[in-house]
Amino acid sequence: MADKNDKDSKLVGLLAQFDDPDSLISACNEARLAGYKAMDAYSPFPVHGIDPAIGIQRSLLPFLVFCVGFGACFAGLGMQYYTNAADWSPIFPGYAFKISGKPLFSFPANIPVTFEIIVLSSAFATFLGMWGLNKLPMFSNPLHRISRFKRATNDKFFLMIETKDENFNRSETESQLNQWGAVAIEECRQDLTDNQLPSWVRLVGLLGVFLLMLPPVMIFRNMGMTSRSPRLHVVPDMDWQHKEKTQVLSPVMENGEYLFTDERAMRKPVDGSIARGQLEVDSEMYRGVKKDYKAAANSAKTNARLVSASIEDKEDAPVEPDQADQAEDVSMWMTQFPEGVTVDQAFVERGQQRFNIYCSACHGYDGNGNGLVNQRAMALGANGQAQWTAAKSMHDATVKDDSKNPLGRIFDTITNGRNTMGPYGAQIPAEDRWAIVAYVKALQETGIQPATASTETDGADEEKQTDADGGSDKEEKTS
Ligand code: HEC
Repeated sequence: MADKNDKDSKLVGLLAQFDDPDSLISACNEARLAGYKAMDAYSPFPVHGIDPAIGIQRSLLPFLVFCVGFGACFAGLGMQYYTNAADWSPIFPGYAFKISGKPLFSFPANIPVTFEIIVLSSAFATFLGMWGLNKLPMFSNPLHRISRFKRATNDKFFLMIETKDENFNRSETESQLNQWGAVAIEECRQDLTDNQLPSWVRLVGLLGVFLLMLPPVMIFRNMGMTSRSPRLHVVPDMDWQHKEKTQVLSPVMENGEYLFTDERAMRKPVDGSIARGQLEVDSEMYRGVKKDYKAAANSAKTNARLVSASIEDKEDAPVEPDQADQAEDVSMWMTQFPEGVTVDQAFVERGQQRFNIYCSACHGYDGNGNGLVNQRAMALGANGQAQWTAAKSMHDATVKDDSKNPLGRIFDTITNGRNTMGPYGAQIPAEDRWAIVAYVKALQETGIQPATASTETDGADEEKQTDADGGSDKEEKTS
């Protein structure tokens, strides 16, 4: 010890060795009573009563964590209040969103975030506070240089009084320790050269820090620059594949010609291909046309219906409804419900529900053709503000007549529309369309009878609510 150069090391404290826990405790008590505070005891196992003996205070940590958590509570609430409800700040206003007239700020809604913030900051306070209070990280402890101290994990007990204690006095403290029964006393010195890392370590460290800074610097530099080369793509995924957007021209080949001769980028499905589950070959179920029906060659109209092409049908459709009816071969339509459709009460009720959803807007709930849309359109039409053909009444003689308007034809009206009525086949599945047909039939059986056979079409007036029926097609066409 003595030959060690005093300039290179600093005295940190005096380490006293004891042979048994009792003498350690009594020495600790004496030291405490003598007014020492900066001291610590080391033992191979926990010694009962050592904490009060060396005067260990309760840790400050819980209080610290509580303060941080408490502060976080207000910070969390405040942050949410500011972002959600503070619209008064002229410089950084929050977003005061009014949603369904709800208050901008309410406690229950903001508790989860507040709770999370409290938990997060408390966890950080605990972790960092523990490190701070223990003065961590500490890479070396001068005690470990004393060979005798190794027995602190084996069979000896130690008390160290540190020089930083205001009562510490090199010779006086030593004699006191002797008095209190120390078996041996040793100086604990901190080697001041200890802290100095080998120079190459520092060099490598510096170099490492410098290299680490390069990527961010490069990124920042590139952020403010334009470049002709494409971005660095670490994971290319499918970013560079060839693709054509919808509804654009076909890609052009190197020889200047379009890749697809029809000049479109979009391809049609292969002829005759049908999407899975959409092979609707059953003409009875899906078109309302009898299976064994063979179209007369001269009826273009009927053929068009058989192909179920509503657009062509519209184009071909004669303007005059009378002619349309003439051109149509009524015998093609199903007069009964197709196989697989069971008409029972549930089915008709389903039909009612669907009718009320899809049809009542125009045709009215009782099918008299005077739904709200119809009323409004008629009112507008009366001022010349709209062109509208009155929705037909389900009780109209022609609509009701099974020989002129068999089940299959009603089904077809729903599927493909008729004259000015639009098609609903895309919205309503075939099964439901049949259910609606059943309900229409039920409506016709039990439904209202028109009071008068008025030919007036102005349905906007209340007293005319039941008037939509009774006119021939031509009369209703007036718009
Ligand atoms: C947007 C309004 C509107 C909706 C919705 C509507 N229709 Fe029509 N419907 C009409 C109009 C208008 C006519 C008269 C068409 C014509 O003769 O030009 C009509 C005519 C009809 C006819 C008579 C066709 C014929 O043989 O002349 C039937 C049957 C019919 N609709 C059933 C229905 C059913 C069932 C629904 C529900 C799936 C429905 N409509 C939904 C407006 C509508």
